[in-house]
Amino acid sequence: MGRAAENAECTASPSLALTKYWGKVDGGANIPATSSLAVTLRELSSTTRVERSGGTDMVLIDGVPQSESRFAPVFEAIRAETGSTEHFLVESSNNFPTAAGLASSSSGIAALVCAVNALLGSELPAWKLSRIARVGSGSAARAVFGGFTALPAGGTEAQPVHDANHWPELRVVVAVLQSGPKAVSSREAMERVRRTSPYFAPWMETAEELFAEAREALSIRDLERLGHAMRLSYLRMFSTMFAADPPVLYWQSRSLAVIHACEDLRREGVPAYETMDAGPQIKVLTTNDHVERVRAALATEAEQVLVSGVGEGPRVAEKTGVEP
Ligand code: DP6
Repeated sequence: MGRAAENAECTASPSLALTKYWGKVDGGANIPATSSLAVTLRELSSTTRVERSGGTDMVLIDGVPQSESRFAPVFEAIRAETGSTEHFLVESSNNFPTAAGLASSSSGIAALVCAVNALLGSELPAWKLSRIARVGSGSAARAVFGGFTALPAGGTEAQPVHDANHWPELRVVVAVLQSGPKAVSSREAMERVRRTSPYFAPWMETAEELFAEAREALSIRDLERLGHAMRLSYLRMFSTMFAADPPVLYWQSRSLAVIHACEDLRREGVPAYETMDAGPQIKVLTTNDHVERVRAALATEAEQVLVSGVGEGPRVAEKTGVEP
């Protein structure tokens, strides 16, 4: 045990899946059914401040109180792991749109878990923090590590794959097409797909090949191969949603316009490989010398264009230490 603190603050960046976690293993422990490979988005971040509170846990995101049940499993896992009986007040804010399919839950929950770890002085190793974060959100298990990470199918925690310096030229250009929160959460959509989509079983069967291909391409920094596997992953993931009952339709007409714009860029020799998550936004993988071309192509459709490199893991930014 280290020193306990009065409060702690942590900043974490979201984890963007290159190949997708989509679907859970039965049993309710929030264990992924598919292996995902992800990159940490340096320029996007959630900053989370925690302090002890009375008898209840409370989470505010951008000042808005969140439902207790959403975060209860995370607090329970933290208490079980640390032996603490305390409760926490958590205030989190994002420098990008919240709950819009930009992986704010991954960075928010990773920051929360790391901040509470610092507050309690518990010094849990990263793999344990990843396991706790997974209970809150599968993608958050990855955001506990920086650089490139993997969360294996059936696994309880993520693993670091390459550090943030592995691919300095890599950039992710994000087209924010609609910044409001999504109507259907990724959790609800995944569950609906599992129950009703005839394409869920084939998705799970082929997801592992794409993961292995993407991992190999990433290790040798082959953007064309990585982009190809990444596009198949998101398009197959969405195929499961289109075939669900009722269908899950995150796409907007502008999403399709940006998908076509990326196709045009590639035809002109510009590496621009898109992916999407549970929302209409598009994230495009490219390299630093093509960023301006990609940004210009996306700007006509987007409310906002964000550009990110590969980020480090969570940073505990502030800690007012007192002896316990
Ligand atoms: C499409 O991690 O938000 O972004 O574990 O239910 O909280 P829960 O889901 P979450 O889902 C992420 C889905 C995805 C793909 C990915 O990030 O791998």
